[in-house]
Amino acid sequence: MSSKSIVKEHLIKHKWQYVFGVILLSISCLFQLLIPTFLEQFADRVQDSTLTSADLIKLLINIIIVGFIIAFFRSCSRIYIFRLSRILEKRVRRRLFTHWVKLPSQYYHKHRIGDLMSHAINDVNVIREVAMGGVFLSIEVVILITVAVIAMGMTINAWLTLLVILPLPGLTFLAYKFRFQIQERSTKVQEAIGHLTSTVQEFCAGIRVIKAYGQEKDERKKFELKNQHNVYTNRQLIQTNSLFNSVSIAIVGLSYLLSIFFGGMLVMNNTITLGEFVAFNTYLSLLIAPVENLGKVMNILQRGWASNKRLRTILNTEPEIKDAQDVTATSVDGQITIRNLSFAYPDTEELVLKNINLNIPKGSSLAIVGKVGSGKTTLLHLLMRVYNPPKSTIFIDGYDLYQIPLKTLRQSIGIVPQENFLFSSTIADNIAFDPANYNERQITNAAKLAQVYDNIIDFPNKFETALGERGISLSGGQRQRISIARSLIKKANILIFDDSLSAVDAVTEEKILQGLREQMINRTTIIVSHRISTIKDADQIIVLDEGEIVEHGTHDTLIKKNGIYQQMYEKQALKQASPLGTLSIKTKRR
Ligand SMILES: Nc1ncnc2c1ncn2[C@@H]1O[C@H](COP(=O)(O)OP(=O)(O)OP(=O)(O)O)[C@@H](O)[C@H]1O
Ligand SMILES: [Mg+2]
Repeated sequence: MSSKSIVKEHLIKHKWQYVFGVILLSISCLFQLLIPTFLEQFADRVQDSTLTSADLIKLLINIIIVGFIIAFFRSCSRIYIFRLSRILEKRVRRRLFTHWVKLPSQYYHKHRIGDLMSHAINDVNVIREVAMGGVFLSIEVVILITVAVIAMGMTINAWLTLLVILPLPGLTFLAYKFRFQIQERSTKVQEAIGHLTSTVQEFCAGIRVIKAYGQEKDERKKFELKNQHNVYTNRQLIQTNSLFNSVSIAIVGLSYLLSIFFGGMLVMNNTITLGEFVAFNTYLSLLIAPVENLGKVMNILQRGWASNKRLRTILNTEPEIKDAQDVTATSVDGQITIRNLSFAYPDTEELVLKNINLNIPKGSSLAIVGKVGSGKTTLLHLLMRVYNPPKSTIFIDGYDLYQIPLKTLRQSIGIVPQENFLFSSTIADNIAFDPANYNERQITNAAKLAQVYDNIIDFPNKFETALGERGISLSGGQRQRISIARSLIKKANILIFDDSLSAVDAVTEEKILQGLREQMINRTTIIVSHRISTIKDADQIIVLDEGEIVEHGTHDTLIKKNGIYQQMYEKQALKQASPLGTLSIKTKRR
């Protein structure tokens, strides 16, 4: 559903509420038009010298009562219409977010976060403005302009009315045109503030690196530039605003000038009374705001149209990774077969994986080693359908990957990604996502298995300790282990560790691996590592080189081959003071 149809659906759903809001606003507008008639009577009575103090008090009371009525109906209609527009805003934003959640991660590689934020905030705000200011102002503009001009022209003087309103379209045009420039410059001010904020934010986050490299002076310079730019953008905005205000005051002034000059002449030759002259000018003052708002409405509608177009483009983006029509598998056990898998990333030519063939029996372990960029993470991503592999190349339990519902597939895989990400939430939330899904014992157990329990209970709030942005208050190793706990709590049939023990020391690694041995019973495990110690006892080991399996076997067979694996082993054995044999995974298969 596009944002336009959401608006349509919203209008239909709340039509009676809108009608009610419009009635309230119309009442308020009509009451506003009573004020000039009061002033007319007042001025006429002054001119005739027939005004008594009782009349004066009556007039005052009338003005106060009408003022209250105007304020009451206007406020009620504002509350009504504005509330409805907030509901619409919530709906459009929810629709956008629901769609975004469905889009694959590559979409987020292609689009900058800043742009997405701008759609989620600015474009949705514009849609709300259409429903808020657009609806509210349009009604006010139509009623006030129509009734005021009719009252001026029909009841006072048509020629004078025509003359006086002649400059006013200029005000509408000005409001319409200038608002674009004001908005453009306001956006630049917002951007400048954003840059200033992120400079300070980055400075705070990177303070250790900055100090270590003696970059304080450069940082100051960088900040100064952003600070200057902020002042510059604000000055630009002030200039536009001032120019707009001056020109609009000149246009309004011209209307009043015409009214006073020609109106005064009409009073002098008794064509209109003094009261009518006063009423005429009061009508004119009531006209100014709606005439300016007419430009504003035109601007809001035009921007609404542009925002709607941008939102429509997003909402029409088909998620490339979605369930096929013929999803048949209902669960995943964990027997993985890969046949002739070659893969290039979308929009690229180069094959990142070449002719991969593998059979990973259920409950067994596969280890992948290989240089940086050899395609290890890519292979794991294809298994999880983070990217779409070619059809009929990856099979789980005999099902082509495309026959397995994405939800089932992802629920069946517990992954510790290479770049672990912790949310700005509590440790318990980070392990369980939603702690309501797991009890305290399960969360504790997962933390114990990942060897992070002792660290957690040392924190003041234990599992309820809040983590900063990306968990910066934790060490790299602690973060990795919380990520491991997150994968273990799932009890998934397939476990994937993408270089997940790189940030922990050898002793902790051994403890984690010991814990994992129990977990790996009956679960298919894939471990990517640069450390032979981690993978040595895997049931099968592959060595990837430029996307190809160049060696395949067990530790013992590979060590005899005198290939890449053997060289890695030699190098690492030289580095280690102790024998490597103690640090290994051993899958217990039933
Ligand atoms: N999203 C992407 N789009 C295009 N190319 C990519 C993408 N991700 C990775 N690549 C490229 O694919 C190749 C393999 O990357 P991959 O991340 O699979 O390597 P890796 O073996 O996991 O390396 P490392 O040991 O550093 O983790 C690299 O050349 C990389 O530049
Ligand atoms: Mg990788």
